[in-house]
Amino acid sequence: MARILTGIQSSGKPHLGNILGAIKPAVELSKDINNESFFFIADLHSLTTIKNAREREDNVRAVAAAWLSFGFDTEKNLFYRQSKVGEVCELMWFLNCFTPFPMLANAHSFKDKSNRLSDVNAGLFTYPVLMAADILLYDANFVPVGKDQLQHVEITRDIASAFNHSYGETFVLPEARISEEVMIIPGVDGQKMSKSYNNTIDIFLPEKALKKVVMSIQTDSKALEEPKDPDASTIYKLYALVAEPSQVDEMRKNFLKGGYGYGHAKTALFEVLLDKFSEQRKTFDFYINNPGELEKKLIEGEKKAGEIARNVLGKVKEKLGF
Ligand code: TRP
Repeated sequence: MARILTGIQSSGKPHLGNILGAIKPAVELSKDINNESFFFIADLHSLTTIKNAREREDNVRAVAAAWLSFGFDTEKNLFYRQSKVGEVCELMWFLNCFTPFPMLANAHSFKDKSNRLSDVNAGLFTYPVLMAADILLYDANFVPVGKDQLQHVEITRDIASAFNHSYGETFVLPEARISEEVMIIPGVDGQKMSKSYNNTIDIFLPEKALKKVVMSIQTDSKALEEPKDPDASTIYKLYALVAEPSQVDEMRKNFLKGGYGYGHAKTALFEVLLDKFSEQRKTFDFYINNPGELEKKLIEGEKKAGEIARNVLGKVKEKLGF
């Protein structure tokens, strides 16, 4: 049985890009009976940038509700908040003392963030060590991550090997699994959908608000009668990602034929989003309106995670003479 572990950023509410690019594929992977998936919300990492308590709590709830709404099975797998298994901070300290300073100073993501952000705190600097603790605390075999996180998994392997070398086999060496970004999901302005571009589509919005977002998708100014190029249209591209093949075909023909306006296409996209994600929207709202139920699910995972964590941390402390 392979143990797959990954941290989910909680710096915002999941949007359609996150859903199609990360949540759906990860939930699919977690259904494999040969895998055991540990998915956690990296709320401690989010403190490097988000300082407002309310904002973080809201994000954590929205992220958790979104994953549950896409059918992540919390009986078979583990679902928990990073912060609720405090052992990770203790392990991080131990790992800090085995992490060469230049290795962190050379991390791309630190260089990138320290150039971009005004609050360059030490948490940003030691971010990869907390990530190493996340992974090593649970004996993870595989870590699915985006390309930008690959170096952090390599740092984790370096720290773990150095420790194992000095103290004997203690940590499982994890392997990164790079999630190929095969799908480009465009945002309302046609650029890649991303929170930082402010062009996201939040499928969990109330109907009216969702409609407004879909109607705001940018188009060219071709008149209704004119034939249109589907492959140049953000509306069509998004529709192709969510609608059934026969529906996609029909929209394609309508675009090419003319007499079909962008307004029609937007309405079709809006309807398909409501239809396709109706169950998920209901489940999401259920958890947002019943935070106690959400809490129950997370606490279950946190109990199981805590047991594993204490066992691994115990071994480390013994070896270090604590
Ligand atoms: N840093 C990861 C990201 O930004 C999230 C994360 C935190 C993570 N801890 C992890 C991913 C451990 C994999 C394993 O996406």
